[in-house]
Amino acid sequence: MTKLHNNSGALVGIAALCAALLAPQVVAQGDDVFAEYREMMGDENPAIFTIEEGQELWETPMGSKNVSLEQCDLGLGPGVVDGALAQLPRYFDDAKAVQDVEARLIYCMETQQGRDVIDVLVKPYSAAGDQGTELEALVAFIADRSIDAVVNLPQDHPEEQNMYKKGEEIFYYRAGPHDFSCATCHSQTDKRIRLQALPNLTTNEGAGFAFTSWPAYRISEGLLRTMGWRMQSCGRQQRLPQFQSGSDAVIALETFMGVNAKGAVMAAPGLKR
Ligand code: HEC
Repeated sequence: MTKLHNNSGALVGIAALCAALLAPQVVAQGDDVFAEYREMMGDENPAIFTIEEGQELWETPMGSKNVSLEQCDLGLGPGVVDGALAQLPRYFDDAKAVQDVEARLIYCMETQQGRDVIDVLVKPYSAAGDQGTELEALVAFIADRSIDAVVNLPQDHPEEQNMYKKGEEIFYYRAGPHDFSCATCHSQTDKRIRLQALPNLTTNEGAGFAFTSWPAYRISEGLLRTMGWRMQSCGRQQRLPQFQSGSDAVIALETFMGVNAKGAVMAAPGLKR
């Protein structure tokens, strides 16, 4: 067993990492740069283009049934988009599963539109330099229509409660070559890695901040990114096998964060570094 595989070893590792990377003047400078950018942009989040594209995709008939997604039930009834993201993931009786927005969209494409969703599943998220994927655009559109909605994930169905428990378990599960869990980086308040603030996802405030700001336009990449992508990217930071879009592991983590975020107000698509 290497040193990093015992608990205190991993913490010492993190502390050393932080100490090395977190010179205060660098942190302040980094914050300034992004604050300045946000100010410059004012209300003009470039996500607006992705949102428009998403709306167009939502309304365009496609698939063997040649229908649009407009009758897709995102949890608040067929065709109701407003506020839907603030209550996802949730249990869907037709799919007999708890689904997040990405899994639900794929389900509707397949069952309502009669589409072969393999293309969407093979590449749900953009690579650097891409224009954005269909899934990203649709999620941006739904997020935009959920702005100001209060986060309130249902927890009545046993499967929803189960997802929360699974999410909690994964959140604290230490794995990978560094023996990190999500909690290693996200269960203390006011911590940073490099220039990035690390929200404490175990508190209502921290989870609320994170949950309500995704999907987000990432300035550094010039792309809109979804919460599913964020999970995949953090899984990579943890050196885990890659999380798949719409998988139970992702849905469980989103449920854990979303339930912890209860009462926060949706503000996505946000602007991130
Ligand atoms: C090695 C440390 C590390 C681990 C482990 C880690 N993350 Fe992260 N996480 C980060 C960093 C750094 C950022 C900010 C990245 C950026 O700004 O680009 C972040 C960002 C996030 C965000 C977005 C926060 C926001 O306000 O925008 C969420 C949500 C998140 N992580 C969830 C998780 C989950 C769930 C796990 C476990 C699967 C996890 N993270 C594991 C370091 C980590």
